[in-house]
Amino acid sequence: MQQIKDYVEANKQRFLDELFELLRFPSVSADPAFKNDVLNAAEFVAGKLRVAGAENVEVCPTAGNPIVYGEKITDPSKPTVLVYGHYDVQPADPLELWKTPPFEPTVRDGKIFARGACDDKGQFYMHVKAFELLQQLGELPTNIKFMIEGEEEVGSKNLGIFVKNNKERLKADVVLISDTSMISLDTPSLETGLRGLSYVEVEVTGPNRDLHSGVYGGAVANPATILAKLIASLHDEHNKVNIPGFYEDVVELTPSEREALNKAPFNENEYKEDLGVNALWGEEGYTTIERTGIRPTLEVNGIWGGYIGEGAKTVLPSKASAKISMRLVPNQKSSVITELFKAHFERIAPPYVKVKVTPHHGGEPVVTPTDSIAYKAAVKAFSTAFGKDAIPTRGGGSIPIVALFEEELGIKTVLMGFGLDSDNLHSPNEKYDIANYYKGIETIPLFHKYFAELSQL
Ligand code: BES
Ligand code: MN
Ligand code: MN
Repeated sequence: MQQIKDYVEANKQRFLDELFELLRFPSVSADPAFKNDVLNAAEFVAGKLRVAGAENVEVCPTAGNPIVYGEKITDPSKPTVLVYGHYDVQPADPLELWKTPPFEPTVRDGKIFARGACDDKGQFYMHVKAFELLQQLGELPTNIKFMIEGEEEVGSKNLGIFVKNNKERLKADVVLISDTSMISLDTPSLETGLRGLSYVEVEVTGPNRDLHSGVYGGAVANPATILAKLIASLHDEHNKVNIPGFYEDVVELTPSEREALNKAPFNENEYKEDLGVNALWGEEGYTTIERTGIRPTLEVNGIWGGYIGEGAKTVLPSKASAKISMRLVPNQKSSVITELFKAHFERIAPPYVKVKVTPHHGGEPVVTPTDSIAYKAAVKAFSTAFGKDAIPTRGGGSIPIVALFEEELGIKTVLMGFGLDSDNLHSPNEKYDIANYYKGIETIPLFHKYFAELSQL
């Protein structure tokens, strides 16, 4: 442990400088304008893996953004860890809300502010540095494979194909991912599940063209008004999702499981204050921890239609649209939920409009085992590094590829996240504590050490 701490201490500034270099690539996967930056980020990651000592490093082309692969196999009898992460990031907009430019990492108050600082560049890069550290300090306790992709934020479509076509190359005993949250450095925690996702776009069409809102208003249904009503009807008076069959496959936790989950520290006042809301909202009968971890939800991500430019334009729009996401929990299936949504939305549409529902990417929920050697190794690594036991929690976000690793490769995942829910993921002023970055680089080598040790017992 002391050796690890000393190595981190001696290389602190360089570790930070390298992360800053990575953060300067605007590798936004959603926007084709950044294609070159995405490719440059991939090359940068491959280069750093090579320098750290990885072999067979390759920037693997796909139909979309490349996947960076690298490995260090020292001994086939050692257990193998497949590290997954993503070098792509969400778009930075709205740009005007950033205090400092999103792709010019800036430190304020001990935190790195940049798009991707936490999700996921700052987190996956800890694994590259932990790998370097292990190589420098002696023999690697495990075999390590890296698979860092560039399309996580847009649904990992091509990674799915890559995984199916590279089963032999990706063989491993566990998948290790740092792309989730912990409670805090004082209260370490490990996520033991992720929600799934069903994402749809809806379009409501009224008249065949935009109309003068004085000449026609009052005589023709306004699609924006109808869309608002339809959306409002998707939750009932108990804030439950109002789609028949939506909860059908939801696994209810036992009272003791719920009790255990709610033992995690949660301060409602701080939570409200951080978000600037006066009161919380959610499904009746469940706590905030449950609402964001073990319950399915429906959210409008964006809504538009008609005139939204400067000043006023009197118009009755022909169309109005919205993007809607549903977070899923075991054993809901994204394809089933998408179908239920579509059928319901089409059924409730009044005769004076037409509706169109277009599905986007989806993903399945997962629960990761807590009785595996790998999970135990993670727990032990956390307690050594933090001097405290990690609390198991359930994450609200989604990493759809985790379910696919299980299905296609038969490998379970350990979610060793070092971010905080309040790190402004996908939002302006995304940040990552420098302390969390270094703590991660200290904890990850311990995971490899304990995983190797416990595997031998
Ligand atoms: N790293 C996040 C997921 C996450 C964040 C899990 C915090 C747990 C805690 C990941 O990059 C992400 O944003 N995933 C998307 C899904 C994807 C299909 C766009 C999400 O959750 O919205
Ligand atoms: Mn992520
Ligand atoms: Mn993300």
